[in-house]
Amino acid sequence: MLNVCVLGTGYVGLVTGACLADLGHAVTCIDIDPAKIEGLARGEMPIYEPGLDEVVARNGEARRLSFGVDPSGALGEPDLILIVAVGTPSGEDGSADLRALFSAVDQAAGLRAASQAGGHLTIVIKSTVPVGTCRAVEAMVARRLKPGSFSIVSNPEFLREGCAIEDFTRPDRIVVGSASEAGLAAMRALYAPLTSQGFPLVEVGALETSEMIKYAANVFLATRIGLVNEFAQICERVGADVDELSRAVGADRRIGPAFLKAGPGFGGSCFPKDLRALTSFAADLGCPSEIAGAVIAANERQKHAMAAKIEEAVGARLCGRRIALLGLAFKAGTDDVREAPALSILSDLIAAGASVTAYDPAAGEHFARLVPGVRIADRIDRALADADAVVIATEWPEFLTIDWMAARLLMRRPVIVDLRNHLEAKRLIALGFTYRGVGRHA
Ligand code: UGA
Repeated sequence: MLNVCVLGTGYVGLVTGACLADLGHAVTCIDIDPAKIEGLARGEMPIYEPGLDEVVARNGEARRLSFGVDPSGALGEPDLILIVAVGTPSGEDGSADLRALFSAVDQAAGLRAASQAGGHLTIVIKSTVPVGTCRAVEAMVARRLKPGSFSIVSNPEFLREGCAIEDFTRPDRIVVGSASEAGLAAMRALYAPLTSQGFPLVEVGALETSEMIKYAANVFLATRIGLVNEFAQICERVGADVDELSRAVGADRRIGPAFLKAGPGFGGSCFPKDLRALTSFAADLGCPSEIAGAVIAANERQKHAMAAKIEEAVGARLCGRRIALLGLAFKAGTDDVREAPALSILSDLIAAGASVTAYDPAAGEHFARLVPGVRIADRIDRALADADAVVIATEWPEFLTIDWMAARLLMRRPVIVDLRNHLEAKRLIALGFTYRGVGRHA
C-alpha cells in the first residue's frame, strides 16, 4: 500500500483517486472547492460517471479514500506519490492555460519542504499538458526541494467519460515517462495490482515523449473520426453506405474497427481542446500540425452541415418549424455537454428560425445552464409533441426503445434525422417515416 495524494478532484482526479484506492492504496483527494469536498464526504458525486459512487463509497468505508481542501497533512507523508490532475483549460488562443497547475505544484512543493517529511516524493503529472511542461515543473520544484528527494513523472490518462472505471481497471496500456529510476520504481509499485494481471506498463525515458503520446493518441482518434465523417458526406452524394464502409475498412487489422463511427462531429472536453493545444504549441515550435488543423476545420464543417440535412429532410425552410432535438450530451453515457455537437446544431436551428424542444436523459440541466432560454422537455413524448422533425444527436440506448407508432401520432410530420445512425432505418421507413441518417442514402 502506498501513500497517494491527488491534487484536483475533477473528472480525472476523482476517478483516478477512487480507482487507486480500490487497488489498495491510501489516497487523499484534494480540491480548492470546499462545496465539492463537502459533497463528496456525503457521498455526492460532482460528476456523472456510472459506477463511480460505489467505488468512492466502498473505499471511503474501508478508510482508504478521503477528501479535503488542505494538502498539508498528506504532503507530510513519507514516500508520497503526488498526482497532479488539475484542469488545463484552453486559453483564448487555443493554448492550454497552465496557471492552476503551476500554482498547485508550487504550493505543494512549498508544503513538502516545510513538512521535513522523509523519503522520496514522486510528482506525477496526469493533467494533459503541452510538451515541455513537466520539464518546467521539474525546474520549479527544484527551487523548493533538494535534488534527489523528488522526481517528476508524466503519466497521461486515457480514460473515456462514461466508461472511466472500466478504462482504469482494464487499460490497453499505462504510459509513464521519467528519466528518474526512483520515479519509475514508484510508478511500477503504484500500478503493480494492474500489471500483475497482465495490463502493460509502457515506460518511456523522456518526460516529453510521454507528454507527446497523449496528444498523439487523441489527435489520431479525432482524425479517424474526421476522416470517416468526410467519407460520410461523400457516401451520401454517391449513394454509398458509410457504416458498411467502416465495417469493411476496419476489418483490415492495420486499421482496426474502433472510432470509425460517422456522426454529427466529435465533441467533449478533450478532442477539441487537445487538437487546439497541439496546433498552438506545434506552430510555436515552427512545425505547424497541418493535419490537426484540418481536422478541427473539418469537424466544425461537419457540425454545421447538420442543419442543412435537417432542412432537406423536412422538405421546407426551417423558419417556423418545430424540431425535437433528442440527445444533448457530447456522447451517450455522460451528462457532459462541453463542445457537444448538439450545441452547434441547436444554434443553427434557432438562427434558421426553428423552434426547438430538447430532451436528454442526463444532460438537460447542464445544457439549459449553458444555453439559457432553450426549452428542455423532461420526457421524450413531450419533446416530440407537434414536431415537424425529430433529430437524434446522441446515441442514448433509451432512444432505441421509443414507440415510433405512438410517436408518429404525436408529431406533426413523420420525419427522423438520425445523426448517429442509431435507429433501425428500414423499420422506420416501413412505418411511414421519412428517415435520414449520416453517410447513407436512406
Ligand atoms: C477521449 C479519449 O477517447 C480518451 O482516451 C481520453 O482519455 C479522453 O478523450 C481525454 O483526453 O481525457 P472522451 O472525450 O471521453 O475520451 O470521449 P470519446 O469516447 O473519445 O468520444 C469523443 C467524441 O468522439 C464524442 O463526441 C463521440 O461521440 C465522438 N465519436 C467517437 C464519434 O463521432 N465516432 C466514433 O467512432 C467515436
